[in-house]
Amino acid sequence: MELATTLKGQTIQNRVREIGINPNYWYPVAWADSLKVGQVTPVTLWQQSIALYRDDQGQVHALENACPHKGIELHRGEVLGDRLVCPYHGWEFNSAGECVNIPYFPPEQKLPCASARSYPTDEKYGIVWVFPGDSTLATLRQIPEVPEYSDPNSLVIPITGMFNSHFSISNENTMDVFHGYLHKNLQGWFDPFLLSLKQTDSTVDAEYRVSYRGFLSKLLGLSTESNGITTRIVSIHYNYPHYHSTMEGVSSLYLMRMPVGPNETRSFSLLFLPKVRISKRLQNLVKPILVPLVRRFLFMRFLEQDVEMMESEQRIFQQNPQRRYVEVNPAILALQRVLVRQYEQFVQQSSQLEHRQEESESNQTQEALVTGQMPESSVR
Ligand code: FES
Ligand SMILES: [Fe+2]
Repeated sequence: MELATTLKGQTIQNRVREIGINPNYWYPVAWADSLKVGQVTPVTLWQQSIALYRDDQGQVHALENACPHKGIELHRGEVLGDRLVCPYHGWEFNSAGECVNIPYFPPEQKLPCASARSYPTDEKYGIVWVFPGDSTLATLRQIPEVPEYSDPNSLVIPITGMFNSHFSISNENTMDVFHGYLHKNLQGWFDPFLLSLKQTDSTVDAEYRVSYRGFLSKLLGLSTESNGITTRIVSIHYNYPHYHSTMEGVSSLYLMRMPVGPNETRSFSLLFLPKVRISKRLQNLVKPILVPLVRRFLFMRFLEQDVEMMESEQRIFQQNPQRRYVEVNPAILALQRVLVRQYEQFVQQSSQLEHRQEESESNQTQEALVTGQMPESSVR
């Protein structure tokens, strides 16, 4: 749906700062190269603690980080082949989370029915992904497409972001091109103008026009003169729960969001500079120098200023969650609607599912009363 681009004051519904995620999407949880064969590490994805491990074949698995025996965190254990072993009594769990061995059990003894929840995982673009929702939906949902990643001559700059703020605050920061003022000492952009805006149930597409001047813009290939002004189009595509933003011919940035909890969000970003095309062979030489340089002196300087604002916004919100704020950018308001709608859709679908399960269990019980055989679920 095409939306008006007029800037107009509207009160923000603070509910957007208190909503949860829709877990029925793929979320990034770690850089793939940070998890070596045989290693296990804890990650938290929207308040769910997960033990992430790489087995001896290089496959990544994700189990609920709590042993079904006594609740010990499984990330404290060790990897044995394709299993994760709890450090307390040595129970072994396979990648489906089932207990497959108890070292002190006689071989013929039946194992107890005990399992840790397992999550679908995938590895793509150097990132480990986890699907925290209904696992039957995992194959129906796509990890975002990053076509530049498979281009051998394009240089990828991975960047990690950590913010002590709700995911709505960090997502609004990305959609908010009107905050060039914050970055004025970095020769950030000026004269922003919202050109077009579209919204669906799960996406927001905004196009802005912005201007740049100064040395940095020359370096980025935005202008030919160091004191000249160049005007560019910035396209921001939000496809719940991740971002892709491009600046005409200059950069393509993918921001994969990892909501950790109500006050903490991480970002796994992939930055591509289309003008910087280096052969694979040369990349191995320049990468160790160029990647940290671009990260440190271009990206992080902007990000650090953003983080300060996002965290300040979060702190003040927590001090007084009742206070109402005013927004003027219709792109932010559209984004807030998508975030709230996605959460509400998930809550609604889960309650419908629960209702159906209760109905089927009560039907089974009624049948059992007639036949005299109790269903398994009511015996447990
Ligand atoms: S607590 Fe994990 S094996 Fe006992
Ligand atoms: Fe910024």
